[in-house]
Order: sequence, then C-alpha cells, then structure tokens
Amino acid sequence: MPKQENRYTRTAIVLHWAIALLMALNIALILLVNYYPDEWVRPAIDTHKSTGITVLGLVILRLLWRATHRPPAMPGSYGRIERFGAHAAHGVLYLLMILLPLSGWMHDSAWKDAATHPMQLFGLFEWPRIGWISGIEPVLKETWHTVLGGVHTWAGYVFYVLFALHVLGALKHQFFDGEAELQRMLP
Ligand code: HEM
Ligand code: HEM
Repeated sequence: MPKQENRYTRTAIVLHWAIALLMALNIALILLVNYYPDEWVRPAIDTHKSTGITVLGLVILRLLWRATHRPPAMPGSYGRIERFGAHAAHGVLYLLMILLPLSGWMHDSAWKDAATHPMQLFGLFEWPRIGWISGIEPVLKETWHTVLGGVHTWAGYVFYVLFALHVLGALKHQFFDGEAELQRMLP
C-alpha cells in the first residue's frame, strides 16, 4: 500500500471512477443503438444525453478539486519522458471530458426538432438547449448540426486512443515497473 501522500484523496478517487464508468457506459449505450428494438431508440438517446450532462457537472467538480489540490507526486522511478507523457495524456483526457459532453449538447441544441422535443434530464425536469445555437437561422443551423456532430464523433475517436494509452500506461507501471500505481487511484 502506498503512503497516504502517495495516493489521490477520496474525493478525487470517487470523481475519477464515477466519470470513467459513466463515460464508458454512455459510449456503449450509444454505439449499440442500432441493435435496439425501435421503441428503445429514443429513450436510449435521451439517457445518453442525460448521462452526458451529468458527466459535465461531475467534471466541473473535478476541475475545482484539481485547481485546489496538488496531485500526489509520481514515483521517482518514472523517467522524464514517461512523466511528460502521463501528464500530457491526463491533460488531453481532461479536455475530452469537457469537449465530449459540451459538443454533444451543442450538437443537440442545433437539432432542427429540438423545440418540439424538449430534453428531460432523466425524465425529472427540463434541461435547456443552448439558446444562441437553437436561435441560428435554419439552413445555417443544419450546417452547424452536422459540424458539431462531427466534432462529437471525432472527440470520441480521440478519446478511445487516449483511454487505451492511459490504461496501458497504468498497467505497465503496475506490472512491469512493479510500482503500486493502481493503488494511487483506489480507495
Ligand atoms: C480502467 C480504466 C482506468 C484506469 C485503470 C485508470 C487508472 C488511473 C490511475 C492509476 C491514475 C493515477 C495516475 C497517477 O497519478 O499516477 C489515473 C489518473 C487519471 N485518470 Fe484514469 N484510469 C482509468 C480510466 C480513466 C478515464 C476513462 C479517464 C477519463 C475520462 C481517466 C482520466 C484520468 C486523469 C485525468 C487522471 C489524472 C488525474 C490528475 O492528476 O488530476 N481515467 N487513472
Ligand atoms: C460523457 C459524455 C459523452 C460521450 C462520451 C458521448 C459519446 C458519443 C458517441 C461515441 C456517440 C456516437 C457517435 C457516432 O457514432 O457517430 C455519440 C452520439 C451522440 N451524442 Fe453523445 N456523448 C456524450 C455526451 C452527449 C451529450 C451531453 C449530448 C446531448 C445533450 C449528446 C448527444 C449525442 C447525440 C444526439 C448523438 C447521436 C445519436 C444518434 O443519433 O445515434 N452526447 N455520443
């Protein structure tokens, strides 16, 4: 077990795993959409949107944690390039945690049928569209709908790569370097 100062705080650990789990489930939910019976498709997309907005809220909390806490120092055995790579990957993952839900929300706000299909957050209450995007004139809005959908899809592709690198990096440190790497992010 690493010493207390060599691991993330309980808050950081809860946020890390909650966000990781929700993002993974949200991606699986939407990528399988073509296999659902017709009556499941709309509820699945609505759940995808609600889960994504929840992630956005959790990421804001996580950034507040990050701005007010110093993460535990990396083990001295990690080389300079490895440290740089890990920090760079974490930085891009933070960007994607914001870009994925935000581009989804923007894409959805540019949807021509948004006004007649209000978004309900898990069926509990209405979640607003981004007004200045919904207000763009129809032809231009359709273009933005396509562009923002492309940004959302491509952010997903970049996320798959970073996610794989991140997990492989953690496993390499754990099993090849013999460091208590995973324990840094486990309760
Ligand atoms: C099975 C999946 C995952 C494993 C095993 C894992 C493991 C870890 C570990 C061990 C750390 C501590 C790194 C260190 O400081 O030494 C960490 C940090 C981090 N993880 Fe993950 N992670 C996973 C999924 C994710 C996902 C899906 C995301 C992004 C949504 C993510 C984003 C981050 C970020 C940004 C940090 C750096 C935290 C900071 O210093 O502020 N992780 N992860
Ligand atoms: C955790 C955050 C999110 C992740 C990781 C994510 C990921 C994805 C992925 C991978 C796709 C499939 C893209 C494709 O195959 O072309 C997708 C589609 C979509 N996402 Fe998201 N998304 C997130 C949040 C959101 C949010 C917040 C909204 C809207 C409020 C949203 C709206 C959509 C819509 C409308 C689609 C297209 C669904 C369809 O027509 O099949 N997403 N998302």
